[in-house]
Amino acid sequence: MKFLRLLVLLLVIPAYAQQGGMWIPSLLKGMNEKEMKSLGMKMSASDIYDVNHSSLKDAVPQFNGGCTSEVISPNGLLLTNHHCGYGEIQAHSTVEHDYLTDGFWAMTLEDELPNPDLEVTFIVKIEDVTTQVLNGTSTITDEEAKQKKIQENIANVTKNSPKESWQENRVRTFYEGNQYMLFVVESYTDVRLVGAPPSSIGKFGSDTDNWVWPRHTGDFSMFRIYADKNNRPAAYSKDNVPYKPKHYFPVSIGGIQEDDFTLVFGYPGRTTEYLPSVAVEQILSSLNPAKIEIRDEALKVTDSFMRRDPAIKIQYAAKYARIANYWKKWIGESQGLEKTNAVAAKKAYEKNFIEQANKTGKQNEYGNLFNEFEAKYNEIAPYALSRDYFLEVVLRNTELLTVGFRLYQLEQVYNMRGEQSFNDRKGNTLAALEGTYKDFNKNVDEKVFEKLIELYATKSPKQFLPAGLINADYKLLTKNIYGESKLTSYDGVKELLSGDAKEVMEKLNNDKGFQLVKAISDAFITNVNPKYEQINLEIEALQRTYMKGILELSPKDARIFPDANSTLRVTYGKVKGYSPRDAVYYEPVTYLDGVMEKYVPGDYEFDVPQKLIELYNKKDFGQYGENGKMPVCFIGTNHTTGGNSGSPAIDAKGNLIGLNFDRVWEGTMSDIYYDPSICRNIMVDMRYVLFIIDKYAGCTRLIDEMEIVNKRKK
Ligand code: ARG
Ligand code: ASP
Repeated sequence: MKFLRLLVLLLVIPAYAQQGGMWIPSLLKGMNEKEMKSLGMKMSASDIYDVNHSSLKDAVPQFNGGCTSEVISPNGLLLTNHHCGYGEIQAHSTVEHDYLTDGFWAMTLEDELPNPDLEVTFIVKIEDVTTQVLNGTSTITDEEAKQKKIQENIANVTKNSPKESWQENRVRTFYEGNQYMLFVVESYTDVRLVGAPPSSIGKFGSDTDNWVWPRHTGDFSMFRIYADKNNRPAAYSKDNVPYKPKHYFPVSIGGIQEDDFTLVFGYPGRTTEYLPSVAVEQILSSLNPAKIEIRDEALKVTDSFMRRDPAIKIQYAAKYARIANYWKKWIGESQGLEKTNAVAAKKAYEKNFIEQANKTGKQNEYGNLFNEFEAKYNEIAPYALSRDYFLEVVLRNTELLTVGFRLYQLEQVYNMRGEQSFNDRKGNTLAALEGTYKDFNKNVDEKVFEKLIELYATKSPKQFLPAGLINADYKLLTKNIYGESKLTSYDGVKELLSGDAKEVMEKLNNDKGFQLVKAISDAFITNVNPKYEQINLEIEALQRTYMKGILELSPKDARIFPDANSTLRVTYGKVKGYSPRDAVYYEPVTYLDGVMEKYVPGDYEFDVPQKLIELYNKKDFGQYGENGKMPVCFIGTNHTTGGNSGSPAIDAKGNLIGLNFDRVWEGTMSDIYYDPSICRNIMVDMRYVLFIIDKYAGCTRLIDEMEIVNKRKK
């Protein structure tokens, strides 16, 4: 009997631990080095992360907060995804110079284009500060008071830990509040656009192929970091010079094979691998379907305008891609969770967890955990749904409402902090909104609004809505607002915001658009948000206890990785194909032949540039081809998530072999439930990147500044 239980334990508990995982670079030595070597790695943990010597981490900055990038030359040349540099490429584009459509290549240093709001951030060092952060908190039982004390401690650590004047200290939590780490970071803000392929390469397959294998996208763009004369961060200046990195990646063109070791190094944003089953059920039955339906409507409307009007196509390109991306992700995620029986697997794990707790005499601490989870998730259900409707409809998909909400916040600032704060904030708001309106089209937004406001009013929990929204005539409401509100143009907003605070308040409150936003926001802020926050805090406390339990009750050799939190992580695995369904096997590598198979002349998503077709026909692949074929993308068993885009894929010796940009459709649920048999990350082969730069764009100066290794003997 005992033996049987042990067996069950071994079968169930390692579900979290076996393969996958996003590991903390400073802890690799104890946790992972052995396994990495057994998978074929030829480096040591300190080659990857070291505080005293240069190491791979010095070549991997976070790109603009949301993506990853890597330095690939001694002159600060930076590689990331096309979809990560998309906003910048779009910002430099007009109908006349359309770099999204045609690509952009700076043929000299002088041609490289500055980007006012772009920054990249390097990690200088990582330190465990758990003791300092949790100091004096163990005796506090009230959750709110406990969190307050923790925040105070974090503020102290952040303020008092040593750093250079241009650096910044950041504290982040790991294992849901069971561990805290300090990051010393430095950010460079003069980062210039160097090159981007046309979208027909960099975004080949667009939304149809997004999250899908087999894939044929050359999803890369290039930037360069500039520094002052001392190689330190500096605001843009003509006098800045290319940054000299502590480390840069040599690029391997030796090729890859199935089962080769791979390491992906980057900034995964957020995962929730340790959610209880009841939370996953809620995502499946309520939250994902609601968000998917909202975006479905927004996308249909926007798409129809973009296909008709090239100016709108540029204006909405980045927004559309952003909205479509998670829309499709949630669809795949729900399907994957169903198909892998994630809820049942979690339930089995939970049953076992409780048995373990009882067996080890910890029933007081953990025995009631899942009942409490269930009660809290039931309680939060309507609030969570209502909140998602608010976020999706008001803050993410309807611009008039999003702008209106900013002005609503401005009013709050005035009411709470007075005229001076109001004036400061007003300046910032106006500056930010100028960019918003550059990419705003009233007709598009009006149609989106009409659809979404009806969804909001009819499908979100009614008890929390403002009265005026229930059973209204949504067509008429839309017509009135877009006919009369000043929120439909930047000039209109400037007019609303002119004059002193009192005048502004009066004008705002007479505006039909603002009135609606205010009614909706007031309702959200009084009826939904406080209760949501309160229950959520309680759920977080339960999750912290659960995590503690997982760490304590798992077998000693089970390695448990902390959920992603936008900090630097290492994930590793092998180049590997997979079987998505019965009788089908996916090879791990795609070739240019596949691009030509998908080619549809003139198509919105699958057109191929003439020059690329010519190179293909002549098999003119330079030193980058392999047996007369040009490799394009490959997949591996590295556990990645959003934020890993642009991450370097590194070989056993530390050379760059690929550029991470996506995951496969069957495995999009990996943020919640990682299944090693079908979860794969997708990378562009560096040989394809170099081929495009060299043979397609003729930008050979970039090739010349890289260190290219593993060339074939002539
Ligand atoms: N799915 C990838 C990631 O999450 C690539 C997204 C590119 N955007 C797109 N809509 N095609 O970011
Ligand atoms: N495409 C994602 C990103 O932008 C990566 C992923 O979700 O796999 O970070």
